[in-house]
Amino acid sequence: MIQVFSKQPQIGTTIFTIMSKLATDVGALNLAQGFPSFDCSPQLIDLVNFHLKKGHNQYAPMAGVPALKEAIAEKTSSLYKVSYNPENEVTVVSGATEALYAAITAVVCPQDEVILFEPAYDSYAPSVELNGGIPIYITLEPPNYQINWDLVKQKISAKTKLIILNTPHNPTGKILTINDLNQLAAIVKDTNIFIISDEVYEHITFDGRQHLSLMQHPSLQERTFICGSFGKTFHITGWKIGYCLAPKELSVEFRKAHQWITFATSTPLQYALADFLKEPSYYLALPEFYQKKRDKFLVCLQNSGFSYLPAEGSFFQTVSYSDISDENDYELAVRLTTEIGVAAIPVSVFYHQKNDYKILRFCFAKDDEILEKAGERLSRLFSKSF
Ligand SMILES: Cc1ncc(COP(=O)(O)O)c(C=O)c1O
Repeated sequence: MIQVFSKQPQIGTTIFTIMSKLATDVGALNLAQGFPSFDCSPQLIDLVNFHLKKGHNQYAPMAGVPALKEAIAEKTSSLYKVSYNPENEVTVVSGATEALYAAITAVVCPQDEVILFEPAYDSYAPSVELNGGIPIYITLEPPNYQINWDLVKQKISAKTKLIILNTPHNPTGKILTINDLNQLAAIVKDTNIFIISDEVYEHITFDGRQHLSLMQHPSLQERTFICGSFGKTFHITGWKIGYCLAPKELSVEFRKAHQWITFATSTPLQYALADFLKEPSYYLALPEFYQKKRDKFLVCLQNSGFSYLPAEGSFFQTVSYSDISDENDYELAVRLTTEIGVAAIPVSVFYHQKNDYKILRFCFAKDDEILEKAGERLSRLFSKSF
């Protein structure tokens, strides 16, 4: 009998898979996993059909089809006034998950330390560990989840190779400010520390706030891999297509990793997105579109008993029930799904030590009827049990 040695013994099935399966099994409204309940633009589907029929069905170039790399560079330059050379600084990949993994693989060697802020998106720490790196966790606490930059400074050592940031942030909806970026820049100045900035929710910001990309800070830009995704921007999370923007020397190393992970990304999807990106109105309308969803969801939550700080960005709203109940957040999330029919994610799963601050995360990228039904059900639960 072959003996299997697990390289990731502590890793099980992700909470997103568990909660989504549970939601399907019991017929609950799935506000757990981060995907829209509505479809993408019909024009985008037509463009894919067009390119499939046109014969764009063989391997794409390793770094992406030129038309898409150029469209990404143009969009970036017009939005953030930063230029990346499509030839050697823009790489198309199979989703931000791949961008993150390739960037981590490009720079992290065994025993290197990587600073992560928790709550953290679930792929960061395992991707670091698979490369032999050591996650150094910094805990962010509710309700503000503010980064304590003095603490970051203390955690930096001679072994620190990389810092991973995420703005707008999943699960908290927080956005980094210019003060955050200035403090980070002062800390990494005169070091060889790289940065990964996960900006997959770049177009989803609320209440007039602007997304501040790390590329906009020149002394951060030179050391940063910006990871983006079309999944969140165009309601196409199932397509798994994203990109990495990084200065030439960083992109050389990034591409070395990317070529062994997936080599290239789906060709017809790349051509379709290259055409679709020519019309900025789709992504420029997203803040208004999603702010309406967030506000609708907050109204639906009015009688729920949850307390919350409105999300600044992303399509997640976190809510606290610490004033009402002591129930463990994981158990409450399961009970919400099975008894009330609304699936949510317990925020403890985003902390490696499963810190339970009595907070749940809901995804409000759903049709209004689903949000309304969820609100009705949630108000019933709290009047019944607490
Ligand atoms: C913060 C964050 N980063 C990365 C990803 C992964 O993006 P993709 O689906 O493009 O791989 C997600 C998806 O939920 C996310 O929330």
